[in-house]
Amino acid sequence: MAAKVVMKLGGGLITDKSSFKAPKKEIIDSICKEISKIISNGHTVILIHGAGSFGHLLAKEWSLAGGMNPEISEQQREAVIRVRSDMIELCGYVTNSLNLHGIKCEVFPPSDWAVGTGSNFNGDLAIFENVPKGTVPVSFGDVVIVGGEAEFGILSGDDLMARISLELSSVSHCVFLLGDVDGMMDMPPNVEGSKLIPIWRAGESVETAHNSEQDVTGGIELKAARASQISRGVNEVWFINGNHPERISQLIEEGTTIGTKILG
Ligand code: IPE
Repeated sequence: MAAKVVMKLGGGLITDKSSFKAPKKEIIDSICKEISKIISNGHTVILIHGAGSFGHLLAKEWSLAGGMNPEISEQQREAVIRVRSDMIELCGYVTNSLNLHGIKCEVFPPSDWAVGTGSNFNGDLAIFENVPKGTVPVSFGDVVIVGGEAEFGILSGDDLMARISLELSSVSHCVFLLGDVDGMMDMPPNVEGSKLIPIWRAGESVETAHNSEQDVTGGIELKAARASQISRGVNEVWFINGNHPERISQLIEEGTTIGTKILG
């Protein structure tokens, strides 16, 4: 059966998070190669990516997640423009690589069509459905307009994942690709002896090495919360190591792989 896969490339996977605007081109390439394989096997892919060092560093510096602060509003507005353009640039690395692997794509920057932050943002998600067969719609975490005095805020790619996976018709798989870990671990991933949790149920604790110094959105906690929300409507919700993209095909074709399956 043809799968419909909503996939997120975490910002920590496709960029070096500690170094301003440092894309990991080889990783991006290996994932795009895998996506082209999935498409040629007749499946559908909807692609979301995070920001990593193309978004979080400036967003943190100018407190963009908290909305407009009248004392620094001028600098913030400049930062909003820069982050949006940096995100388009990062997206360009992804779409160029997709194109090189023979995949057509269409980019939908949230700042063009979404208003509000969190999973209740407003926007017409039908754009992700109305692309020709074989074309991959691409979007990403972004600075968006929010109502009221805040003026702007950060919409995470994890919130896009939740709404797209639950509201588009017949999504079969929702895959969060992580950097450097095989899935959710029973201890912080950098602790020796930490083991992969193959099945995770909502409500179980999440171990995290979340770095709030760099990360303006929620890290693994937000991902886990969104994933369990998604698993109420989508059967196959997974955290997979993005350094092993072949695991996505294995999941689609064989029904399982190395990773964490999320249950609601
Ligand atoms: C954050 O998006 C967007 C900006 C900071 C502009 P995400 O929350 O999806 O990004 P990652 O995956 O954590 O990098």
